[in-house]
Amino acid sequence: MVSKFSCIECGREYQPGVRFRCDCGGLLEVKHEFPEVSRALFDGRMGSLDGPYCSGAWRFKELVDPCIEEALIVSRPEGNTNLYSHRILCEYVGLNDISLKHEGENPTGSFKDRGMTVGISEANRLGAKMVACASTGNTSASLAAYAAQADVTCVVFIPEGEIAFGKLAQALSYGANVLQVKGNFDDAMRLVQEASERLGLYLLNSVNPWRIEGQKSIIFELLQQRGWAPPDWIAVPAGNLGNTSAFGKALREMVDLDLLDETPRLLALQAEGANPFYRLVEGGGNSLEPLKPSTVASAIKIGNPVSWKKALKAISETDGVVEQVSDQEIMDAKAIVDRCGVGCEPASAASVAGVRKLVDEGVIDSGDDVVCILTGSLLKDPGATVGYHTGNVEGVTPRYANPPILIEADLASVEETFAQIALAVRENR
Ligand code: F0G
Repeated sequence: MVSKFSCIECGREYQPGVRFRCDCGGLLEVKHEFPEVSRALFDGRMGSLDGPYCSGAWRFKELVDPCIEEALIVSRPEGNTNLYSHRILCEYVGLNDISLKHEGENPTGSFKDRGMTVGISEANRLGAKMVACASTGNTSASLAAYAAQADVTCVVFIPEGEIAFGKLAQALSYGANVLQVKGNFDDAMRLVQEASERLGLYLLNSVNPWRIEGQKSIIFELLQQRGWAPPDWIAVPAGNLGNTSAFGKALREMVDLDLLDETPRLLALQAEGANPFYRLVEGGGNSLEPLKPSTVASAIKIGNPVSWKKALKAISETDGVVEQVSDQEIMDAKAIVDRCGVGCEPASAASVAGVRKLVDEGVIDSGDDVVCILTGSLLKDPGATVGYHTGNVEGVTPRYANPPILIEADLASVEETFAQIALAVRENR
């Protein structure tokens, strides 16, 4: 049993190591020699209390990283995230039913942990002493935590002043060396790739093919939770396009291994101001044009996504759709997800906003079975959330605002406020 790196352009194979691009410039992906697997194998591990199989990523070890020794695995553990629905949400998107798979329930509050556990375990296998990434926030939070667990030095490159406070707080607290780059994410990404090569840092962005392997487990776990019955659509926010790529690879491999009967359609959502992949697919071209990104959803504020070629394959193989949504649509959808008691960060809500848009346009039928991936926790970006409810997000009208009510420190003020609340409740019935 072996796993190799293989070029997505020319097929040339490499031993898995520290290089993530082929001599021809193409991205590399992992190619496994899969052992015998079955749904029953994975179902038998459900509810396991012991590592590594209690992790929702390592439960699928044979599909993710079959060869790594268990002793090398660094796991928190991750995954085992829940599916949610709510009447208010169904009404908002215009579907009879919809589920949200909440990847914000991972150990550091985003889906990145699923890829990071595999990436850091591979760093461990290679004996890496220093790990690095560029990030719009979540990758750096995740890497910082896993590097601390693995006891390796961590360097994260973040765009100065552009990442949400929850994420910055995590990276600082977990002990990463935080380099604030005077530029945007795309500058930080270019810099970390150059620095990794020059200084021998092990790079843990999703250009590292092991990250993609771990993120495939979102799809495996989602299907397992549904008794292996595929939905019609899976909607996912798209920034650097690691997740879109991982979802396509997961679905392709499941079909090849007889684990899936029908392939769901992928729906990748970009913010209007950070939409190079949407433009590429809409324009029918074959080369992505980088742009200068701008959106309130800082996690997906990316103008030059690394994995666009892998993602393009994922969209074409799944008869997928790429759509764009405005900051207004993202923040309103977020307010609805939050109001359901579920909550997510702004970028995550692009999935819900996109589904609403496509239901409206008649691309998604009101009876379709749809799963949206919520990629990060509500607590990641308190600035955007409080900003929305207090009317302080530039260019966004808070249609579902729930601002705090300032009162005098006496009972009469409380009584007066209660009367207003009771009136509002009656009016809304
Ligand atoms: N949602 C959230 C919350 C994210 O943090 C990201 C990416 C995405 C969606 C987009 O996923 O890049 O796989 O298309 N965050 C990266 C980071 C870029 O640095 O944390 P993608």
